[in-house]
Amino acid sequence: MTAFSLELVPRISRAQSMDALSSQASAAGYKAVLMAAGRLGKFFPMMMTAAGTIPPARVLVMGAGVAGLQAIATARRLGAVVSAYDVRPAVKEEVQSLGATFIELALETQEGEGGYAKEQSEEFLRKQRELIGEHVAKSDVVITTAAVPGRRAPLLVTGEMVKGMRPGSVIVDLAADTGGNVELTKAGADVEVGGVTIIGTRNVPSTMPLHASQLYARNVANLLLHLVKDGAIVLDFDDEITKGSCVTHDGEIVNERAKQMAAAPTK
Ligand SMILES: NC(=O)c1ccc[n+]([C@@H]2O[C@H](COP(=O)([O-])OP(=O)(O)OC[C@H]3O[C@@H](n4cnc5c(N)ncnc54)[C@H](O)[C@@H]3O)[C@@H](O)[C@H]2O)c1
Repeated sequence: MTAFSLELVPRISRAQSMDALSSQASAAGYKAVLMAAGRLGKFFPMMMTAAGTIPPARVLVMGAGVAGLQAIATARRLGAVVSAYDVRPAVKEEVQSLGATFIELALETQEGEGGYAKEQSEEFLRKQRELIGEHVAKSDVVITTAAVPGRRAPLLVTGEMVKGMRPGSVIVDLAADTGGNVELTKAGADVEVGGVTIIGTRNVPSTMPLHASQLYARNVANLLLHLVKDGAIVLDFDDEITKGSCVTHDGEIVNERAKQMAAAPTK
């Protein structure tokens, strides 16, 4: 059996039209903001009314990859004051270009391979939580999207940090499916702690099925078009996209990460 995985398609410019992680992350980032706005008992924009002026909501986005950037853009369109944090300093300009403030922490910044974050040490994550705590406490909405490919989501927000937030605040944990960025997240459920709602909806792109499916279908079609020449499947394993996205071929697991996972002892 020759098997391909869309999540293994390399994140290179040539493969962008096949990148299902990106298309689905965009849908998730957008929807996360709407879920938070729907739950928050406050306006997002500043409102100047005859009955008084209402300050804008403060939104913090943690993890500024594809989902995070889409969340920032959506929250800005709704008029919120947005700040964002990521371990990769490279995203600072992208965050700022969307009109958000990039939070810089006094931590040694880290970047892994291929533009991804690498897994951080427990010590790094502990310091990170300490420093980001004050920003979390000031926010009306926190949207967490931090992920490290093939690993459990890093823990960014502890139960203590949630208790430091104002009642009525809302957290949307887009990493709920991979262990959660928030300690108290319950995947597939909403929990309330001290008046703070933590939304742990699974598979958020499926809550906007029409466009999520349309984009996913295009990703699949573009990968197939890449693998098929003149009506026949032609597998060129010298090609980065074909090689990168193939999991099994010729009776072997050919993908390195899948190989390691298959060899690892089952718990
Ligand atoms: N085809 C392409 O060229 C292409 C397509 C999409 C994305 N990309 C790039 O791939 C990269 C990752 O994108 P993604 O959205 O899939 O990432 P992802 O879903 O794996 O992770 C989301 C974000 O979480 C961040 N993160 C990880 N650990 C963190 C921590 N402890 N604290 C705070 N943030 C943390 C990551 O840096 C990342 O920005 C980006 O550089 C993006 O520009 C390239």
